[in-house]
Parts: sequence; structure tokens; C-alpha cells
Amino acid sequence: MIFSSSDIPRHTRATVFLALAFGLAVVAGCQTDNGGDDDTSASGDSVSTSAVAPPDSIRTSVVTAVRGIDQMRSQLATTFDPDNVTAETFERVCKPVGRRAKSVAQDSGWVVQQLAEKYRNPAHTLDSIAAQAHSRFESNPQETSFWRRTTLNGTEGWRYFHRITVEPSCLACHGPKESRPDFIKAGYPDDKAYDFDSGDLRGLYAVFVPDAAPEPSTDRPDSERP
Ligand code: HEC
Repeated sequence: MIFSSSDIPRHTRATVFLALAFGLAVVAGCQTDNGGDDDTSASGDSVSTSAVAPPDSIRTSVVTAVRGIDQMRSQLATTFDPDNVTAETFERVCKPVGRRAKSVAQDSGWVVQQLAEKYRNPAHTLDSIAAQAHSRFESNPQETSFWRRTTLNGTEGWRYFHRITVEPSCLACHGPKESRPDFIKAGYPDDKAYDFDSGDLRGLYAVFVPDAAPEPSTDRPDSERP
């Protein structure tokens, strides 16, 4: 559409100008962001047209789901007595986190994983692309997440990686090798997930969204699920 400026009332011109200025500011913000850290855009108020991130609807729902899973673990880990950790405690910490990841995957058609170089459960070994993401997080301590266009098991889609950081409350089970709870020593003979310090890179969340996945529903964010 082409307007001569006299066709447009003055207040409309002002509105169009403001909208353009705002649009440019958003685009500029996305470029400096470089798809690197999506945490600030979880509110859904940012528009990305760049090739390093998927459409906003996917981006927002994945970031929100991962944030929900991560916060759930942090909260659960601070709710027990670190001097008395038993298998029952585990039932209340990392097990519900795994269940939550599974239910997010079932509801969405995504692949939702928590992977680690130093893994405890051998099912959480890094694949080759996730290993690259792990090295990237290791050499860029400030980077918390990024997107990648990729294929997984022959399917094309977007993959989101988000770092998992060790907190003081994790050390009861991921601290010194000898002080690991008995149920871990007995239950995970190939355990590598110990000797961490607070602040270390523990591993990463990896969420793959196949191009064929259904449009994410926006009516009930995962963070609000029971
Ligand atoms: C009560 C003990 C306990 C606490 C506390 C705990 N974890 Fe774990 N964690 C485990 C066990 C056991 C597993 C293996 C779960 C499985 O079999 O899938 C695990 C698995 C994981 C995994 C999946 C990757 C892997 O190595 O298998 C991550 C990531 C992880 N924990 C991070 C954390 C973080 C971060 C914290 C603190 C916020 C934490 N854990 C606190 C016991 C614990």
C-alpha cells in the first residue's frame, strides 16, 4: 500500500512512526541477543525473524516448559534434610523432574531430555549434537541457552539447549564421591555425576521440536500444571 502523507491523519502518522520505531528496536534487540539467551523472551513479547530461532509460539512454549522443569528441581532440592538423604528423598527430587519432562513430551510431541557428559543414568548420555552444545556452554559460562536448526533421528526441526547449573542443594547427591547417599552408590554403578561444585555446568536440557509437531497450545502453560 502506498500513501501520500496528506492521506493520513496526523495522529495516525504518529502512531505508524511509533510502531515502526518500536519494531526496529525489537529487531535490533533480537540481533544482539543472537538467539543466545531466550530467558528474557519467555514472556512472549519479543519477535524473532532471525534464522537462529523458531517462530515465537514454539520458542515461548519451549522456554516456559524448560524453565518450569528447572525451577521444579531447584525447589524440590531445597526441601529435604541434606544429612539424611535416602531413596525416598530421591523420589521427591529428581524422579518427579523426570516424570515432568516425560509428560511435557507426551503432551507436545517434542523430545524432552536432560543430558550430561558426567551422567548418573546412562540413558542421559550426550549425542553428538548435544556434546557440541555442552562444549559451547563450557567455554561460554555466560550463555544459558540457544537454538539450533537440526535433524534428530532423521527428522528435521528445532532443538533448544539450556544449561543446568549445580546449586548448593545438589551437592548432597552430586558432591564428593564418598559422601553420595547409599542408594546412589548401589543403584548407579556407572555413576559419573559426582565431585561437582556449586556453579559448575551439570548438564543440559535438550528439547527437540519436530517441524511436524502440532502448534503449541497457549491456553495452559506447563508451569501451571500440577
Ligand atoms: C536426593 C539426591 C539428588 C539430589 C538432591 C539431586 N539429584 Fe540430580 N540426580 C539424582 C539421581 C539419583 C539421578 C539419576 C536419575 C535417573 O535415574 O534418571 C539424578 C539425575 C540428574 C540429572 C540427569 C542427568 C544424569 O546425570 O543422569 C541431572 C541433570 C541432575 N540430576 C541435576 C541435578 C541438579 C541440578 C540438582 C540440584 C538442583 C540435583 N540434581 C539434585 C539424585 C539427586
